[in-house]
Amino acid sequence: MHGKTVLVTGGAGYIGSHTVVELINAGYDPIILDDFRNSQPWIIDRIGEITKITPTFHKVDCQDEIAVKEVVKNYPNAIGLIHFAADKAVGESVEKPIQYYQNNIGTLCTVLSAMKSFGIKHLVFSSSCTVYGDADTAIVTEESPVKEATSPYGDTKITSEKIIKYNSDAVEDFGSTLLRYFNPIGAHPSSLIGELPQGVPNNLMPYITQTAKGIREKLTVFGSDYDTPDGTNIRDYIHVMDLAKAHVKALQYLTNTECKSCVTFNLGTGKGTSVLEIIKAFENVNQLKLNYEIGPRREGDVAQIYANAEKAKEVLDWTCEYTLNDALKHSWEWEKGIGE
Ligand code: UFG
Repeated sequence: MHGKTVLVTGGAGYIGSHTVVELINAGYDPIILDDFRNSQPWIIDRIGEITKITPTFHKVDCQDEIAVKEVVKNYPNAIGLIHFAADKAVGESVEKPIQYYQNNIGTLCTVLSAMKSFGIKHLVFSSSCTVYGDADTAIVTEESPVKEATSPYGDTKITSEKIIKYNSDAVEDFGSTLLRYFNPIGAHPSSLIGELPQGVPNNLMPYITQTAKGIREKLTVFGSDYDTPDGTNIRDYIHVMDLAKAHVKALQYLTNTECKSCVTFNLGTGKGTSVLEIIKAFENVNQLKLNYEIGPRREGDVAQIYANAEKAKEVLDWTCEYTLNDALKHSWEWEKGIGE
């Protein structure tokens, strides 16, 4: 133990592993709880390679309340818990709604119960800009309305936010941050950790990198007839390292201010980029040609959404340090090394 202990569920996953690196760099002692259902145990060793400190991990299904409590009871001095463990694929959630409610809501309730039992007062939660749904404006603030979800995945995030708010009211001295992520991309600059999608990727970035590598034949752009300058969807793509740093800032905010309420933050760059702009930038920065075609719209996609991230800047003193080109370069470098 060299620093302040922080529990991290899903700490071997995509955003979780980068956050663990940043926690270690900031002098914390992260303890990972992960069952590796959507990650790999060797990611833990890679974190050790990057930071020279291999974090402690417990292989545990966070839906299993008894098992989670067995772990958490060993860390009564933990200053907080960062909860990543959840299923995250919109399309899959439509096919498997029960799995999504059981896992995403079940793990959250288990984690909150364990925190209460062992007196852990600070929670950092992974939410999503999906809660804004088909927003009335392209740029959204934390005050923009939460819309009816269009998928079980989205509904689990909206419901999780409500559960955490009620828990903050009910449990004395409980402070939490709801971090609404926009579109995370990129990888650690060392290329030692990054995104590991299972099967055919749903998200744009891994589909692009797998196409460039020859794993997929071509990328289909989902619609070019949207009401945007080039007709393709606009999103806010944020480097996963910037996102990771925001978690450290959110934890510091909770502990430094002894926060006893539930505070929401948008985490994005504040800039919108279209699908075609991403493709062109990816080709330019990596000096390659991507095989792609324009296809029909994908059901459920909104034309454009990007973050107003001023609140995170003001309250957390957090801004993005990496550029879009950095993220596109790091995503490609990571992809090239997977499997080696
Ligand atoms: N896209 C393509 N082709 C692909 C994949 C994606 O053109 O093969 C386009 C999509 O239509 C969209 C953009 O690339 O315009 C980004 O799509 P992603 O699937 O990468 O991301 P989404 O914005 O759809 O979804 C993200 C998160 C979800 C979250 C949602 C909220 O992945 O977890 O934002 O809006 F719910």
